[in-house]
Order: sequence, then structure tokens, then C-alpha cells
Amino acid sequence: MQSQVTSWQEALQDASLGDVLTWAVAKWGDDLVLASSFGAEDMVLMHQAWVMRLPLAVFSLDTDLLFPETYALIERVRDRYHYDVALYRPQLPLAQQTQQFGGELWSREPDACCRLRKVEPLRRALAGRQAWMTGLRREQSPTRRELAVVQWDRTFHRVKINPLAHWSHQAVWDYLNAHDVPYNPLHDQGYPSIGCWPCTTSVKPGEDVRSGRWTGFDKQECGLHR
Ligand code: ADX
Repeated sequence: MQSQVTSWQEALQDASLGDVLTWAVAKWGDDLVLASSFGAEDMVLMHQAWVMRLPLAVFSLDTDLLFPETYALIERVRDRYHYDVALYRPQLPLAQQTQQFGGELWSREPDACCRLRKVEPLRRALAGRQAWMTGLRREQSPTRRELAVVQWDRTFHRVKINPLAHWSHQAVWDYLNAHDVPYNPLHDQGYPSIGCWPCTTSVKPGEDVRSGRWTGFDKQECGLHR
């Protein structure tokens, strides 16, 4: 698989968004699923696939700790685009997590909290799929600098497709504005990157786009992407 992935990588590295989506859906069909946190990048992917009438399965990891604005956007996307968004929730409801690990685990052990509330549900969301698509971009963080449009995901043992790997922040926003795509209103309130409400803060203009995630911890990724 690794050598095939390398040849896809080479073929698709400069391909347009439409070409990558067309390739992904044709190649993987029902074996492909889009992971959406309903952030700006995911909105680009969902809008473009919808415009092109490409059938794309979509899931979101509902940690029980998403912002009300994110839950509202999920409903808006369901209505407008008719995506049948599958929500994957943690096996451990919040109350049980509190019983077992104490309250506000995220404020003491964010890695453990992310494992329970995001990584475990992701494994279930990817079950039965051979490929997954994300809205990751290289620019987002040093941990994402090496990102390719197509790569082998060594953690989850699947093909990972990142059609926006080489897109800039500006290109994402130009796309959303040009096509009048709905987006999370928190983006206009200083939240470039939006995760769970206890671990996401707003950032000042010019600050690193991910500095509002897990502020105060030496943590850059939740475990979905390594
Ligand atoms: S995170 O790993 O730190 O949360 P980030 O918020 O930058 O990632 O999002 C990057 C990509 O990861 C998104 O474009 C999406 O593909 C996927 N992703 C992140 N959070 C979720 C979620 N809750 N549900 C589904 N996919 C997600």
C-alpha cells in the first residue's frame, strides 16, 4: 500500500480541489468518509463535494463538549446540504467520566480526555472504511508541515486524504466568501481553530491560529493526527 500511496501522492500533489475530490470518491466510494469538525476547512470540502454532486459520507466526533455554535452549524449543514452526518459520541458519558476520573479531566489530563472523547470514537467512525478525508492544512502548525494530499496514516492504518494540505488560510476564507458558504460564527469572534469549549479560547489578531487550543499545556494535537 505504501508504494501505491507514494504514486497517488505524486499524481495529486498539485491537483485542484475538484480533481482530488473526484479521484477520492471514484477510487474509494463507500470506503471513504470525511471527518468534519465543521471548521472553515471542512465547510470548504462539504460545499465543494455538494456542488459537484459527489456522494460523500460525513461523520463528526461529538465529544459532548462542542460549542453551541458548532451544534447549530451541524443542523444547518444537514438542512442545507442534506448530508447525513453521523455523530460518534464517547462510550463514556461525561457523568461517568467524572465518576471514574474526577471532574474536568480536561483541565488536569487533556491527553486522557482527548483519548476518551475523540480518539476512541474515531476508531469506531473509521471501522469498515479504508480511507478518510480531513480538512488539515500544512500551515496550521509545525506538526502538520509535512502533510501530503494523500498519505498513509500509520496510527489508524488507513489512507488519509487531505485535499487542502497546501491551501493557505486566506484561500480558505476567499473560497467561503466567494461561495457564500455557512461557517461557525465563532471564527468571527477570534476563534480560528475550534475544538471542545473547555479547551478552546479565542486568540488575538496575528497570534498563532492554534494557540487557542489547550492553552497552558504543552499540547499541539489531540491524537487524531500525528
Ligand atoms: S484537532 O485534531 O486539533 O481537533 P483540527 O481542529 O485542527 O484538529 O481539525 C483538523 C481536521 O481534523 C478537521 O478538518 C477534521 O477533518 C478533523 N477533525 C477535528 N476534530 C474533529 C471532530 N470533532 N470530528 C470530526 N473530525 C474532526
